[in-house]
Amino acid sequence: MAPDDPYRDPSLSVDQRVEDLLGRMTLAEKVGQMLQLDARRDLKDAVSTRLAGSILHASPQRMLEAIDLAANTRLGIPLITAEDCIHGHGFWPGATVFPTQLAMAATWDAELVERVARVTAVEVSATGIHWTFSPVLCITRDLRWGRVDETFGEDPYLIGELGSAMVRGYQGNGLGDPTAVLATAKHFAGYSETQGGRDASEADLSPRKLRAWFLPPFERVAKEGCSIFMLGYQSIDGVPITANKWLLNDVLKDEWGFTGTLVTDWDNVGRMVWEQKVCADAVEAAAVAVRAGNDLVMTTPAFFEGAQTAVERGLLAEEEIDAAVRRILRLKFRLGLFENPRAPDAQRQAAVIGHPDHAALNLEVARRSLVLLANDGTLPLPAGEPRTVAVIGPNADAPQSQLGDWAGASGQVDWMPDGQPRELIETVLDGFRAVAPADWTVTTARGADIEKLVPDPQGEFYRDGQPRPPISRPAEADPAMIAEAVAVARAADYAVVVVGDTVALTGESKSTATLELQGGQVALLDALAETGTPTVVVLMNSKPAALPPSALRASAIVQAFNPGMRGGRAVAELVLGHIEPTGRMPLSAARHVGQQPIYYNQIRGQHGNRYADLTQDPLFAFGEGLSYTTVEYSDLEIAEPDVAAGGTVRATVKLTNTGGRPALETVQAYISDLVTSVTWAARELKAYRQVSVAPGESVTVDIAVAAADCTLVTADGRRVVEPGDFDLLVGPNSRPKNLLRARFRIS
Ligand code: NOJ
Repeated sequence: MAPDDPYRDPSLSVDQRVEDLLGRMTLAEKVGQMLQLDARRDLKDAVSTRLAGSILHASPQRMLEAIDLAANTRLGIPLITAEDCIHGHGFWPGATVFPTQLAMAATWDAELVERVARVTAVEVSATGIHWTFSPVLCITRDLRWGRVDETFGEDPYLIGELGSAMVRGYQGNGLGDPTAVLATAKHFAGYSETQGGRDASEADLSPRKLRAWFLPPFERVAKEGCSIFMLGYQSIDGVPITANKWLLNDVLKDEWGFTGTLVTDWDNVGRMVWEQKVCADAVEAAAVAVRAGNDLVMTTPAFFEGAQTAVERGLLAEEEIDAAVRRILRLKFRLGLFENPRAPDAQRQAAVIGHPDHAALNLEVARRSLVLLANDGTLPLPAGEPRTVAVIGPNADAPQSQLGDWAGASGQVDWMPDGQPRELIETVLDGFRAVAPADWTVTTARGADIEKLVPDPQGEFYRDGQPRPPISRPAEADPAMIAEAVAVARAADYAVVVVGDTVALTGESKSTATLELQGGQVALLDALAETGTPTVVVLMNSKPAALPPSALRASAIVQAFNPGMRGGRAVAELVLGHIEPTGRMPLSAARHVGQQPIYYNQIRGQHGNRYADLTQDPLFAFGEGLSYTTVEYSDLEIAEPDVAAGGTVRATVKLTNTGGRPALETVQAYISDLVTSVTWAARELKAYRQVSVAPGESVTVDIAVAAADCTLVTADGRRVVEPGDFDLLVGPNSRPKNLLRARFRIS
């Protein structure tokens, strides 16, 4: 490398620089650029021997070593570094860890989510990471799946709104912006269509079903300039996603015009050999993956030898490798890494990581994410008299459960065994101690354990090198712990019981067979119900649980999901009425695990609407959530019910706050196409508005839905508007009984 080599000259165009550099590269160097390797492993092997173009999971220390190693390779091509910063920079000690994506989705607020992503990018970019593996655009289908917490819920439209906001936030003012990080739309596509909730199983999807529900959020962010797409793990109709030329090329690149970069998921190329067994060896797998359109190959070191041998044997043309390498180099030049490798910057870190403004935003999003699901009038707890509140339960003071997966000690990285600094996390117990009135007493008891962790007898690591999590065995209900909790509750005026799950019950390969609260939690809730003390159940869990009758009979239920570092404070503020409940469910909750799948936008045509032994009605429906006031919907009117195909359905609806507290109402608009050429969903969310309504006030809300959005996917896979009659359904949630209805016609 000479300093005046044309590829080093920033006055040349990106394409000129790419071509110059590519022309100097050996086949090994090109294949190396396609590798994204695990920085926790042998770094020298990854960067100096295999010439990896990218690394992931680099601890702060290893990041510096890796940058150095890359600078000393023959051509000095800078590394592109990636991390799973999916709700804040969870693996950087002291960074702002926000509520999980599912919790953020409960805000239904794209602008807020964009601000979260922006702040995340500001923190992440100071640490030498160029690229985050976020957002997840998978739609939740089966609540048993372990990765529900990573999604924005079950609705493609809501996911598209929030996902594109996140992409905008991460990528800032474009890749030249030093605070921008590359966003990743994942997991492309259909990964969440599990079998029985099991992770990475064959996804039973047709191209039409993909186009109908799974692809729209991805198409949306592709068109908004999301830089990277990451594959899932699934195979569809016998074809591993890594080999799915139709999705990766024909749809993503040709149809949608995506010009960004594709990365596989973890060892997808190796998986085609050792797991899916559709390729005989790494040589064949490398050829298949490159042919299908993959650019970066995550954590398959054998791709290095495999792809080179594939070229030698004529299974791949070197030009096919060149095409992928061009896309990777283009990204590096566009980020300006040759001029400035965007290395960790201690000064910027000191200025931005965990900045008080970021902590304030974290509290704001946590407040907005809480969903009040039931309330007999006990909430908000009345101020005035001195009171005692008992804060009980295994998740009342559980920092890691509060942060959720992909943060601190959740298991994916090895440099934070003790998790995020405890003092930065405000648990529910901390929250009550901080914000309860000065003359109130806060008492506590754990009451129950959730699990006992036992090492997996199959070993510490999976075959793909990822750590194998310990097995979560339900803890026995402990009579002494329950008795203590009961005594504390009896002595209190109110009990707040925080139950839920743990990171051992959440995540990749940690799908659950049931949705029930594990360990001693149900026994604890049953015992507390007997005390007669008004009880608020707070659900701090990665996904909705099927609740026991004792929980359903509680005075109030608050769904908190994993509400981030400041979530405990937000819960206390909500219970004490310092803030209004505004969150809405981004997915449906089941009464029983056997109700899967329970998502609201089911296809019409089933016989009956119940099981012989159980209703099909969800426990809590998509869009549901209460306020501390009541809001009535009336007077839904469509000004002009005959709408041209290129026109817009314009409606108004009146909202009246009939209670005594302010409301932030999420007005939801669904469309039902009355007669369709193929069976289709009974209703689909097409628009929503968040509107403040003061006590006693009425407001008229405008709703607009483009006729072009009233689509379905035909039997031959085309997304079209079929002219005819439609109903516009407007209301506070997706339950048909709560929706006003007005007819319109598209001509
Ligand atoms: C596998 C996960 O499926 C993916 O979401 C994640 O980004 C990568 N591992 C990297 O950690």
